[in-house]
Amino acid sequence: MSCPFHTSTIHESVRREREPAPDTVQHLTMREPLGSANLAREATAFLHQYAAEQNIADSIDRLTAIQREIGETGTYCHTLDELTLGARVAWRNNTRCVGRLYWRSMEVRDLRHLTSAAAVFVALVDHLRLATNDGAIRSMISIFAPQEPGQAGIRIWNPQLIRYAGHRQSDGSVIGDPLHIELTTIAQQLGWQCSAKTPFDLLPVIIHMPGERPQLFELPREVVREVPLVHPVYPWFAELGLKWHALPVISNMRLEIGGISYTAAPFNGWYMGTEIGARNLGDTDRYNMLPVVAARLGLNTRSARSLWQDRALVELNIAVLHSFQQQRVKVIDHHTATRQFVLFEQQERQAGRAVYADWGWIVPPMTGAATPVFHRTYENVSLTPNFFPLPTPWPVSAEGVLR
Ligand code: ARG
Repeated sequence: MSCPFHTSTIHESVRREREPAPDTVQHLTMREPLGSANLAREATAFLHQYAAEQNIADSIDRLTAIQREIGETGTYCHTLDELTLGARVAWRNNTRCVGRLYWRSMEVRDLRHLTSAAAVFVALVDHLRLATNDGAIRSMISIFAPQEPGQAGIRIWNPQLIRYAGHRQSDGSVIGDPLHIELTTIAQQLGWQCSAKTPFDLLPVIIHMPGERPQLFELPREVVREVPLVHPVYPWFAELGLKWHALPVISNMRLEIGGISYTAAPFNGWYMGTEIGARNLGDTDRYNMLPVVAARLGLNTRSARSLWQDRALVELNIAVLHSFQQQRVKVIDHHTATRQFVLFEQQERQAGRAVYADWGWIVPPMTGAATPVFHRTYENVSLTPNFFPLPTPWPVSAEGVLR
């Protein structure tokens, strides 16, 4: 990893999209089902790690049983303990997450027995209720049946369980979240009807069971906790009508443990304020609120040197943290989160493990150099178990349009 003081171009490109570079996309997403030999090797490596981390001896019986199971069925089934440790270690290994200090505390729900889209949806609604926990957010993962050899895995088409629709208007403007214009169109093609178009329409959840048609499910409003944004000093801020959902549940990543791919394994932590205040509401290609906030603050938006963007960003982020706290929804500020990350590094070093990280994702999108992580360098190595991006689930024709 090069020095952060000289990475402005790399940093900019990473920071803007927070997407892997195209070559890594291929590598990370296009996971052919493993042949038996490779699967057996990955399984064995994971079982060794499992034993080592629990300070127990390798179970020869378990290793033999897995080899036999793979020989007979082409796959194998994790025990609940293996699944639990595997999921937690996947979080610990994810180089883009600044919140990894708490990796041991993630609650793991084993939902591998569910076979219908409707049953999966009921479990997702339970996840929202349990993880939201009336604002005292708990990190949680719900793990559904893994990908079987020669089959597609279960897919949740939404990138997160709670997302806002984006409606493109005839004049080119967008109502809602521009990030989800395509998913909104897909949902409509699948029969979703959105009567009143508002900036915060909840998208339905789209669940695709292997070999079936994708199915739409409307989330019950009462399980979706939202935080209306107010400012501790400026009463006009409430008039902007901004809000955000309390819970970020990522639902488009593949959890890989011991060579097994769980393509539906939605997980959540709690928000860091800047994710909402700096990126979701601040980015020009998202809700683009900086000009609006700056105008209300009476700043000179014609001169970049007035730093109107910086000042608007600060007030917007103060509003996010203040509102979440006032409404008793767990949230962390970027100063505390990055200090916790340094603690995580120390803790890992004490456990004899290296910490890998993606600098462009760990450094917060505002006030970077005032946080400790800016001044550190990291190697970005992807270990398994881990969470990997999945390819876009909906069919796209050669022209890039939906079929
Ligand atoms: N950045 C994403 C969002 O704003 C959420 C990613 C996960 N964040 C988290 N704090 N666990 O919705």
